[in-house]
Amino acid sequence: MQQAIAVLDSGVGGLTVIKEVMRQLPQEKVIYFGDTARSPYGPRPAEEVRAFTMQIVDYLIQYDPKMIVIACNTATAAAIKEIRTHVSIPVIGVISPGVRAAIKSTRSGVVGVIGTEGTIRSRAYEQALMSISPSIQVFSEPCPLLAPLVEKGLFGEDRTQSVVEQSLRKLIGKPIDCLILGCTHYPFLAKEISRVMGPHVAIISSADETAREISTILSDRGMLATSGQLPIHQFFCSGEPELFKQIAKDWLKEQMFIVPVVWQVPRII
Ligand code: DGL
Repeated sequence: MQQAIAVLDSGVGGLTVIKEVMRQLPQEKVIYFGDTARSPYGPRPAEEVRAFTMQIVDYLIQYDPKMIVIACNTATAAAIKEIRTHVSIPVIGVISPGVRAAIKSTRSGVVGVIGTEGTIRSRAYEQALMSISPSIQVFSEPCPLLAPLVEKGLFGEDRTQSVVEQSLRKLIGKPIDCLILGCTHYPFLAKEISRVMGPHVAIISSADETAREISTILSDRGMLATSGQLPIHQFFCSGEPELFKQIAKDWLKEQMFIVPVVWQVPRII
């Protein structure tokens, strides 16, 4: 049986990462866990996010994955170190890939970061950006209302645009030339965000660079899928599956015709 790449998030956000994984690595099987019953993670203390992440990893490890992708910035900031010591397979998060993409993109060296309260509070982006480029200037802004909107499927609507405008107001007029979407839910709102920030601000999602990192790690270790058959992906969510399924179908539409979704809802308390 083909070993899968296990991907987790607090909800539908990690779908923005697996869409890119499926595009760049179509032979790879993905097992995805969205912790929709306990989303959002953003307002929760880091300790709690760490415990939830550990619990999901323990659940996914039963499926013998070859790699774990923490496709949630909040969980990456809170738990990646512990998860790396907890399992013996490669574990990657989404913060370093997002940072690399921003460093490649910025010309002015002035970068914006938006994320959940937990991610912004952790200062993980500032630290990672400055470790590569010490002179970089960073403007960070928590946007607590955005991930819950996406989780409810409310994107592409007028009222969403005004919430996005409100959330980004402190960044408007700042001399940034790129904005890191430091929450995997935000690519669902990329159009709305770009409309507010204007054409001179590049919108950076970590999905593309994360998929590239997965590819490099698997290739270096000789672990890329070799079967000529297209994989059957598996999706799990801890909450009510209907809305999750609808959002996944709409977002992954290109792949959906080859992706039968197997719903097994683990009981998590
Ligand atoms: N998608 C998540 C992230 O990248 C978290 C959203 C949330 O649950 O608050 O941080």
